[in-house]
Amino acid sequence: MKLLVTGGCGFIGSNFVRHYLEGHPDDTIVNLDLLTYCGNLENLRDLEGDERHRFVRGDIADRELIAELMRDIDLVVNFAAESHVDRSILDPSPFIHTNVLGTQVLLHAAKEAGVGKFVHVSTDEVYGDLGPEGYFTETTPLAPNSPYSASKAASDLLVRAYHRTFGLPAVITRCSNNYGPYQFPEKLIPLFITNAMADESLPIYGDGLNVRDWIYVIDHCRALEAVIDRGRPGEVYNIGADSERTNMEITKTILAELGKPESLMTFVKDRPGHDRRYAIDSSKIQSELGWQPAFPFAQAMKQTVAWYVENREWWQRVKSGAYRDYYEEQYGCR
Ligand code: NAD
Ligand code: DAU
Repeated sequence: MKLLVTGGCGFIGSNFVRHYLEGHPDDTIVNLDLLTYCGNLENLRDLEGDERHRFVRGDIADRELIAELMRDIDLVVNFAAESHVDRSILDPSPFIHTNVLGTQVLLHAAKEAGVGKFVHVSTDEVYGDLGPEGYFTETTPLAPNSPYSASKAASDLLVRAYHRTFGLPAVITRCSNNYGPYQFPEKLIPLFITNAMADESLPIYGDGLNVRDWIYVIDHCRALEAVIDRGRPGEVYNIGADSERTNMEITKTILAELGKPESLMTFVKDRPGHDRRYAIDSSKIQSELGWQPAFPFAQAMKQTVAWYVENREWWQRVKSGAYRDYYEEQYGCR
């Protein structure tokens, strides 16, 4: 099979490309990525010279390029997105361009080319905010609260419409919060690990009691493989590993793992519109596609912290340059 993977130089996309090629030695991947601030070719340095992986720099909203690339593709996996909630609060525009327009351009080209399957990688954030009880199921109404999640919900609806109206064999996945190697250090876990390693403060939003449901990135990649193989067109599959933690719990785990003092924790002004709790019911993908998470939280978090300790050079390079300007804008006045 020949796959078009978009956003394959980002956090989840790069883990997916490596994981997928390990398990499918006869398949090839065209990796289309614009290399925005968080796209990093170094994430796939180990695939240099591997003919099964072809990198193309470009925008998923570029109609001509996408039509050209789509011609001999069997399957699309769409990771490309603006993915950070805080950035979407500072400037929603790129989120509309990539997440909404870009997805529509991909869908249209996939329909025209007659691709065999279109896997759209979405997020549990489209369901909005959960109260203290209950779980998101695939039938939970969409109620996004940030420009990021609103743009992802819009893209999900376009995927649904292309399936219903044009018969595009499209599947939507909605996963909970990922952690693991190569995550851009603007997201909670890599930001806090790398700040703690540098003895810098860890900026906890609000009271630190917001809850996220954490999944190791390779478990997400394994779930996507199951969807590629057996996912039914027109369906939505939630993906989660039943690992709810408050942000305070995550922070204390990181500090304990690194042997750093809790005095590094700093409470800062809350994120506007901050969702209180996410939690995923993943029974559908478990029963229908036979997927189950394989990486227990405690062990995979330990491994993740160790990866950032062992790969200081990777994140120090990422943290230099343009990232710093953003950091000042984001945290300077908090
Ligand atoms: P990321 O920000 O690390 O990577 C996004 C990638 O997309 C980058 O390589 C970037 O260069 C590329 N990109 C951005 N705009 C592009 C464009 N116009 N054309 C081509 N490439 C472009 O994101 P991530 O955390 O790896 O998330 C990947 C996908 O998974 C996103 O769609 C996100 O919504 C979804 N998701 C993420 C999580 C999570 O916890 N990180 C959870 C569930 C779903
Ligand atoms: O749920 C899936 C989503 O998870 C994905 O769709 C998004 O792409 C991904 O970014 C992530 O969104 P979150 O907003 O949940 O992740 P983030 O790492 O930004 O924040 C996690 C929690 O930590 C959230 O409650 C906000 C809090 N936080 C975050 C940062 C960056 C802090 O307290 N301090 C911080 O500096």
